[in-house]
Amino acid sequence: MSTQPRPDSKRQRKVTTRSLLQMKRSGDPIAALTAYDFLSAELLDRAGIDVILVGDSAGMVVQGLDTTVGVTMEQMLYHCQVVARGVERALVVGDMPFMSYQVNADEALRNAGRLVKEAGVEAVKLEGGESICETVRRIVDVGIPVMGHLGLTPQSIHKFGTYQVRATEPEEAEELRRDALALERAGAFALVIEKVPAQLAAEISARAEIPVIGIGAGPGCDGQILVTQDMLGLYTRFHPRFVRRYAELGQAMLGAFERYQRDVKAREFPGPDESY
Ligand code: KIV
Repeated sequence: MSTQPRPDSKRQRKVTTRSLLQMKRSGDPIAALTAYDFLSAELLDRAGIDVILVGDSAGMVVQGLDTTVGVTMEQMLYHCQVVARGVERALVVGDMPFMSYQVNADEALRNAGRLVKEAGVEAVKLEGGESICETVRRIVDVGIPVMGHLGLTPQSIHKFGTYQVRATEPEEAEELRRDALALERAGAFALVIEKVPAQLAAEISARAEIPVIGIGAGPGCDGQILVTQDMLGLYTRFHPRFVRRYAELGQAMLGAFERYQRDVKAREFPGPDESY
């Protein structure tokens, strides 16, 4: 395994919150994916992914939990640390886990600071709208960029009771518009909008000054994000229609494990060339 700088890394300019804003202004779509480990982060970075989110989706796709609710600060610190180590170009954003920012703004600030100082992320992401704007402002004021997350906010799954499309009714759509504006005013540098009607997401993207990155929010956003394990065909417990599978790595890995198992049982591995 190489720890040398990547040959292409010098030529590529580091992605910053400022360059994301420029991308929005010039109509250059932002490509974002999630990562939870060093090797994947390195590959995403080499592929030219602009934003790497260390999502609390780690709870589901790494830890096997049913929801993201149980993910802890210590777990996020670990995932963020190993991801940040693998990235040179992309902007690394760390998710603040459930209850690390909701109690009060002081606690939120302390936890955001830990993700930046101890784990090396360059920005944090929080779920929620107007109700968390004071917290967003406090975090931004100390110099930590904040990404908002609206629409389907998985940390509130027990309140919603379902992972269905959000903001299909006019009242909730209006609330989403208000929340997006409030987060922008509070100083958020970007928003993730998850699983809402494409037209609504396009309208919010057009109105917002800051980049809006969609997941299940149609093509009218300023960028797109998916959970990497979903798009690689590794996490197959759900297959929401917004996930495009770019590979079937789950099948490929299963096949490799089965072939290895057969070879060991048949004493066909290791062979002479694999022995000393
Ligand atoms: O945790 C996560 O991976 C996320 C994405 C779905 C945006 O928040």
